[in-house]
Amino acid sequence: MTKTLLVVWHSNTGGARAMAEAAATAAAEQGVRVRLLHAGDAAPDLVLQADGYIFATPETLAAIAGPMKDFFDRCYYPVLGRIEGRPYAAMVCAGSDGSSAARQIARIATGWRLREAAQPLIVCTRAQTPEAILAPKTIAAEALARCAELGATLAAGMEIGAF
Ligand SMILES: Cc1cc2nc3c(=O)[nH]c(=O)nc-3n(C[C@H](O)[C@H](O)[C@H](O)COP(=O)(O)O)c2cc1C
Repeated sequence: MTKTLLVVWHSNTGGARAMAEAAATAAAEQGVRVRLLHAGDAAPDLVLQADGYIFATPETLAAIAGPMKDFFDRCYYPVLGRIEGRPYAAMVCAGSDGSSAARQIARIATGWRLREAAQPLIVCTRAQTPEAILAPKTIAAEALARCAELGATLAAGMEIGAF
């Protein structure tokens, strides 16, 4: 049966969105069904229907972005105990850090008893001024290639039943 990868993302200035899209496109090329959803559109039934997950978020104020937090808040208890062992990977778009958001996702995933399929992928956009931080982001091709590789690896592992 075709496996389904759910890619849940939020982005304020486009970085995490581009990362999620790169991973989703590469995953689809591996033959899995990919659902690429903004965090606001993702719901518990869609989490239950998936076989694996990618969570992509900006880091804001040393945390995952609000809409991603809202997604996890809405879905945490409805799916608790029903998705154990499924693989996931986290992608964080950050200015200069990203580790707090990655840690936060890892703790939530531990609560869900998900299986970490890859190290968190953090891409730093290096914006420093308020103007640069609020400007639309272009993610470097090299970083997008790493996102694509993550998506392809997770999808390939799901396809052969490695997870
Ligand atoms: C309100 C706000 C808070 C931020 N806090 C952090 C932070 O704590 N750590 C960090 O590395 N970057 C921080 N940033 C920078 C963003 O993570 C960075 O601009 C990133 O590219 C945003 O991803 P996006 O393009 O997907 O929205 C912050 C940006 C904003 C707007």
